[in-house]
Amino acid sequence: MTQEELFKVLVAHCKEYGFIFPSSEIYDGLGAVYDYGQLGVELKNNIKSYWWNAMTRLHENIVGIDSCIFMHPKIWEASGHVSAFNDPLIDNKDSKKRYRADVLIEDYLAKIEEKMNKEVEKGRRKFGESFDEEQFRATNPNVLREKAKYDAVHQRYLKAQNENDLAEYRQIIVDCGIVCPISGTCNWTDVRQFNLMFKTSMGSTADASSTIYLRPETAQGIFVNYLNVQKTGRMKIPFGIAQIGKAFRNEIVARQFIFRMREFEQMEMQFFIKPGTELDWFRKWKENRMNWHVNLGMGAENYRFHDHEKLAHYANAATDIEFNFPFGFKELEGIHSRTDFDLGNHQRYSGKKIQYFDPETGESYTPYVVETSIGVDRMVLAVLSHSYKVEQLENGESRVVLSIPAPIAPVKVAVMPLLKNNPELVALAQEIMDDLKYDYNCQYDEKDSIGKRYRRQDAIGTPFCVTVDHDSLNDRCVTIRHRDSMAQERVKIEDLNSIIRKEVDLNILLRNLK
Ligand code: GAP
Repeated sequence: MTQEELFKVLVAHCKEYGFIFPSSEIYDGLGAVYDYGQLGVELKNNIKSYWWNAMTRLHENIVGIDSCIFMHPKIWEASGHVSAFNDPLIDNKDSKKRYRADVLIEDYLAKIEEKMNKEVEKGRRKFGESFDEEQFRATNPNVLREKAKYDAVHQRYLKAQNENDLAEYRQIIVDCGIVCPISGTCNWTDVRQFNLMFKTSMGSTADASSTIYLRPETAQGIFVNYLNVQKTGRMKIPFGIAQIGKAFRNEIVARQFIFRMREFEQMEMQFFIKPGTELDWFRKWKENRMNWHVNLGMGAENYRFHDHEKLAHYANAATDIEFNFPFGFKELEGIHSRTDFDLGNHQRYSGKKIQYFDPETGESYTPYVVETSIGVDRMVLAVLSHSYKVEQLENGESRVVLSIPAPIAPVKVAVMPLLKNNPELVALAQEIMDDLKYDYNCQYDEKDSIGKRYRRQDAIGTPFCVTVDHDSLNDRCVTIRHRDSMAQERVKIEDLNSIIRKEVDLNILLRNLK
């Protein structure tokens, strides 16, 4: 299966098993808006708990808030979103389809990179153990030709980005012969800026002053509460404020399932620090956040940093943590050194003093900020796409299994009586269920053969199945089956809870964090 096919299968799997549904499906859906089903919401909540506890419980100097989606419209002027939260859009005149001009160019560059990598892989196969990648890249004529093409376009693209030169974006697209995938033509409009914020109005008057925005990031709710939290929490710099909440962006091209949505959820933490210390904290938070990801056990090789060449309007350093999604390495989380841009601007726009008085030095200053910002939905997609596997079994059959890290799996245990029409087995299974359900999200399943029930639980990523059989009535032992190894063992009912806890307890993940 190609990665593209795998992705399609995954999307269908998410729907079939109640993880994620297209929003408003009975009305043919709504572009780039998705609903979480009964299992999706459990997975999402577990990811949020992992993040929230890692931030607020493991750091004595980080506290959480929950600010509103609706905020004073001046906030978005101060933050720069009204003037600068734009994407460059371009239309194809033949297909009438709209694209992001920067994405068209970046996809073109990615294809050249892919060609170079393919050449390198060919070389590796040809030369075997003696292969020297560095030398090959420096001398192979095919690689060198592609590299020269890449560098030329990349240089132009960076310059156009820095100078915000929309005409040059279009010229690059035309010069590179980038065509619309629908019409196959190069018949492009000019490139225009498009503001991504959704507008609505508040109250019953229709004048401009009642226009408000759906927040495009949760961060501003933290900035405008900085003084409240610092004073009431008696927080001393350095300290952080964390928040999980919805954000809205009118994305031009919304594709790739829940990777790019118009309504999504963010987990953001703003860390307030003394000016001059920001690059040190930026490095520390890069390391901290990478540890949080790798700690989940989905393979360190599936993450990488991508340091930004073009910085956002508020940042003096920025990096992405990219994840190896089925469509390649893409941004999962952003870490930005935002200087005093936000607090400074809110001070100017609101006319309120937003400063920190350092009791040790007696000086007052506007704090600098390092933020970590991750999309919950992208994290859900990372987990699901990494976990989905089709395995060939020794008996010639295959199984679909979601090897979701056990502490964040939506259902932790499935309890099954061997036979559904044996009241004694059913009663004992119910008794076990009633005991475990206070600690774990459990499912009771009595329908179909045990084999089919195991497959159903594999397909939703349940780490443990517990089967009650006739012997259980006498020896108070049950069979526990492990999802990944499919190994089965006989254990005492009284030991079940502690056996399960050892693998599914979120605290184990948290304790592992360095
Ligand atoms: N406060 C900074 C900020 O919002 P960002 O890089 O624009 O920075 C942070 O967004 C994270 O939010 C991204 O790394 C991504 O995980 C998530 N995100 C952004 N736009 C998204 C979208 N349209 N759909 C889903 N997730 C999105």
